Amino acid sequence: MSTRIPIGIVMNGVTGRMGYRQHLVRSILAIRDGGGVPLSDGTVLWPEPVLVGRNEAKLRDLAARHGLTEFTTDLGAALARDDVQIYFDAQVTSEREKAIGLAVAAGRHIYTEKPTATTLHGAVELARAADAAGVKHGVVQDKLFLPGLRKLQRLVDGGFFGRILSVRGEFGYWVFEGDWQAAQRPSWNYRTADGGGIVVDMFPHWHYVLEQLFAPVRAVTAHVTTHIPRRWDERGAAYEATADDSAYGIFELDGGVVAQINSSWAVRVYRDELVEFQVDGTEGSAVAGLRACRVQHRATTPKPVWNPDLPVTDAFRAQWQEVPDNDEYDNGFKAQWEIFLRHVAEDAPYTWDLWSGARGVQLAELGLQSAREGRRVEVPELGR
Ligand SMILES: NC(=O)c1ccc[n+]([C@@H]2O[C@H](COP(=O)([O-])OP(=O)(O)OC[C@H]3O[C@@H](n4cnc5c(N)ncnc54)[C@H](O)[C@@H]3O)[C@@H](O)[C@H]2O)c1
Repeated sequence: MSTRIPIGIVMNGVTGRMGYRQHLVRSILAIRDGGGVPLSDGTVLWPEPVLVGRNEAKLRDLAARHGLTEFTTDLGAALARDDVQIYFDAQVTSEREKAIGLAVAAGRHIYTEKPTATTLHGAVELARAADAAGVKHGVVQDKLFLPGLRKLQRLVDGGFFGRILSVRGEFGYWVFEGDWQAAQRPSWNYRTADGGGIVVDMFPHWHYVLEQLFAPVRAVTAHVTTHIPRRWDERGAAYEATADDSAYGIFELDGGVVAQINSSWAVRVYRDELVEFQVDGTEGSAVAGLRACRVQHRATTPKPVWNPDLPVTDAFRAQWQEVPDNDEYDNGFKAQWEIFLRHVAEDAPYTWDLWSGARGVQLAELGLQSAREGRRVEVPELGR
């Protein structure tokens, strides 16, 4: 058996949806179930989580359920442990900045959910502080690791599209109001004061997807609204939904690519997946979801003629071709964790850092400004 190198990770917010399911169970515990992260020198990195939260009983229960022993409600004490190298944050967004600040001050490497802070100023300060402290840092950018987007990336890298013209993204589903059926997302997402809103939630995702797959975003025009103004919380109490639940955004990218992405928690799904991107280029087009990706090459593009007097005879969807997997796709959160852990342990290359996270927060902030002022807003380079 290969030598196991333990790496201590303070995991804060593990009682939450993302912290528990995606990061603890499907990433860190799944990595352990799979035998750890193999390093290039033949040893194996073995993550040792220290669970942190506000409720000791919940932490104890959670730890026991998964055969873990280390948990505490004292973040400072967890960060001070000499067997801990990484701080991970999946708390509600509004609590993140403070906690990451403490972890940086304690000299721990940082891995965090997005958005990295509630303001651009805060996000930039965190990135600067982490650089100044010489710690490594990473931000969850899970969508890049989804099979559908990896296939899209493969098409871009292979030059399938020719000159890319436009990207059309459609994201969303109906989030129940909470009165006659319980809401399927936490209520803080619908209150601005608690760090909620679809723009701060989703624009950071769109930012890294656009920047990584296509080109940097240079301008944003957004219309943002709250379609459902009253919702019911986890206890069944009515509350005013102060945060935006829908955003209609146009993003101008380098090279003239226009990306238009609708994000909504007030839309019913008539699509194959909860998010889909259509990319049109001079040589071909693709439609990618979370898992699937379909293409149409210019040579197989049909020539529809507009005639509303005749019934439709073309089966348009049937004219597209499925992009094969040609690879095995692991859980995206786990895949990114493994890359980050190797980055910490043996300096393996890593791209998605707190600066990238800050650019995502910037796009959200400028999107909200565009909506408020009813105008197009340019995206300046972030000063380090
Ligand atoms: N990468 C993604 O696709 C993705 C998806 C959803 C959410 N997120 C991000 O993950 C983070 C957590 O979201 P979630 O949906 O898991 O939320 P959640 O409400 O399910 O979990 C929040 C966690 O924060 C903790 N917490 C700490 N201080 C708190 C406070 N003052 N009030 C309430 N909770 C507090 C809770 O105990 C819980 O563990 C958010 O920053 C969100 O933006 C990312």
